[in-house]
Amino acid sequence: MYGLLRTALFQTSPETAHELALESLRLAHTFGATGLVCKAQSDPVQVMGLDFPNRVGLAAGMDKNGDYIDALGSLGFGFIEIGTVTPRPQPGNPKPRVFRLARAEAMINRLGFNNKGVDHLVKRAAARRYKGVLGINIGKNFDTPNERAVEDYLACFDKVYPHADYITVNISSPNTVGLRDLQGEAALRGLLGALAERRETLSTEHHRRVPIAVKVAPDLDEPGIDSIAHVVPEAGMDAVIATNTTIERPGVEGLQHAGETGGLSGGPLREKADAVLARLRQALPERVALIGVGGITRGAHAAHKIELGADLVQFYTGFVYRGPDLVTDCVNAMVAARTAA
Ligand SMILES: Cc1cc2nc3c(=O)[nH]c(=O)nc-3n(C[C@H](O)[C@H](O)[C@H](O)COP(=O)(O)O)c2cc1C
Repeated sequence: MYGLLRTALFQTSPETAHELALESLRLAHTFGATGLVCKAQSDPVQVMGLDFPNRVGLAAGMDKNGDYIDALGSLGFGFIEIGTVTPRPQPGNPKPRVFRLARAEAMINRLGFNNKGVDHLVKRAAARRYKGVLGINIGKNFDTPNERAVEDYLACFDKVYPHADYITVNISSPNTVGLRDLQGEAALRGLLGALAERRETLSTEHHRRVPIAVKVAPDLDEPGIDSIAHVVPEAGMDAVIATNTTIERPGVEGLQHAGETGGLSGGPLREKADAVLARLRQALPERVALIGVGGITRGAHAAHKIELGADLVQFYTGFVYRGPDLVTDCVNAMVAARTAA
């Protein structure tokens, strides 16, 4: 069924296809039709103190503004992450800025945090009917210098706090100049320390401690991974999401669009993302959860991330190529892998 829709969508540009797909999904959900596609079995798990109906989530970036939470939430995902959102609305980079590398089940994007701003997202999150786990992913505006980045993250953090089940600190998108420098030990300690302190205040005010996840890049070297694994627990963070898109181009040489600037996602990212995930699991204490993302296009890829130490998984690009069936595939593969073990 999705195969047919995909053929039609792929006749248009990736961004037009994205809008058409989400608007059609919204319409289908309004008429109650999306419940029919959701075949994922229940596979409940508790992570970060939250109850998830299954371990398969939608990665950040598909619903940057929270405009499609209810529709996406009806597809059987165990959780949905919206954003990245910034304090002020911003248009992102000039188009074209998203490219399909269909033969590799991959994409390259240089969107640059196009979004309607945190006030819009908060309205949408507050109005949601979706009862499942909602993560909200926060970032900084492109014109905020890194020395003032903490202010942007805090501004978003304050506003999304009452509406989020968990909050993701995105310091790993390659399309905002200098953003990934926030992964450096001193900058990271400053940022996470400020967020942890603000959480103390907000958790008293709202009578709820919202878990914080830190989303990292796949392009970190081993000392870089180890320093994150050192700072994250020290700052009292609850989870690491590994990984964002890569600026490298593994295995896509010669494919159309492979030379475009931006972050590569999908199949060719998997090996790098898995390597970062595995090293983080070794370096982090047990109490810090891991969310594995990057290159899941089949159920077996999701099961492998669990084997490497992920507590939960997410995908974005796999959803573009495989549609909602990928949720069921992943849940089933994980259950089967556990049963076989
Ligand atoms: C078009 C596009 C937009 C994205 N936007 C965001 C974003 O706003 N924030 C973020 O943290 N990750 C963003 N991502 C990264 C994904 O959440 C995910 O980490 C990455 O694509 C690797 O997973 P995948 O191979 O399953 O796509 C984006 C990815 C794509 C393809």
